[in-house]
Amino acid sequence: MSEADLRIFPTLEAAGRALADVLACELGEAVAARGRATLALAGGGTPRHTYEALANRHDDLPWEHIHVFLGDERFVSLHDEQSNFRMACDTLLNHVPIPVENVHGWEVEMSGPEAAATVMQAELERLFRDADGGPPRFDVMLLGIGEDGHTASLFPDSPALRVRDRWAVASEAPEQPRRRLTLTLPVLNAARHVHFLAAGEGKREALQCALGAREPMESCPASMVRPTDGTLTWWLDEEIAP
Ligand code: 6PG
Repeated sequence: MSEADLRIFPTLEAAGRALADVLACELGEAVAARGRATLALAGGGTPRHTYEALANRHDDLPWEHIHVFLGDERFVSLHDEQSNFRMACDTLLNHVPIPVENVHGWEVEMSGPEAAATVMQAELERLFRDADGGPPRFDVMLLGIGEDGHTASLFPDSPALRVRDRWAVASEAPEQPRRRLTLTLPVLNAARHVHFLAAGEGKREALQCALGAREPMESCPASMVRPTDGTLTWWLDEEIAP
């Protein structure tokens, strides 16, 4: 596992702007090296500044060669204010010239989370067909962390944490909206560049657990993100920093 790289900033906004610059570089390098870049976005509220900063650089990136996924989603309407897809559109995707076919959201209008996860599984297999049956290898994986140590929609002690043969599954959150969809740990850990963005004193204990765990702990899913052949960087404000 690669050692975690901690980068600490006075504010979340400053961390978000610095992260956006690195994301732009990594996405551009991926397109230059392999003809395309694949990006999985984090949900929640923390990444808003990062996405807005990335959107401000819309001319700097070959968006026609960039594919964007949501690392996880709430099983709510795309128009719901709790939708991660809606947040990503409001802050980034509606402001850059990315082809609609390059945006791969979860099918939350389907009959249920399991059906939506099956559709995403097929989409991942289609887009990452060169993965030879292994997990999709995203160029860039953005993640957040909850105060309970969850990441994406992988919650403490969830059965979803043990899935190794599927890349997209339904999961359940301890709070509303409870029905969730998430990429699984094999996908998170296959990424070339994993970036956690986290801020606020309320998450300090979760961060310390994630960073301090000698072994991956299902009680702290963020501690289980250990890229097998990729970089791991934490972007933090001063309130959360160790
Ligand atoms: C979600 C997320 C989740 C998020 C954390 C932090 O759907 O909620 O993807 O993993 O990153 O819950 O959320 P905040 O950024 O809102 O604190």
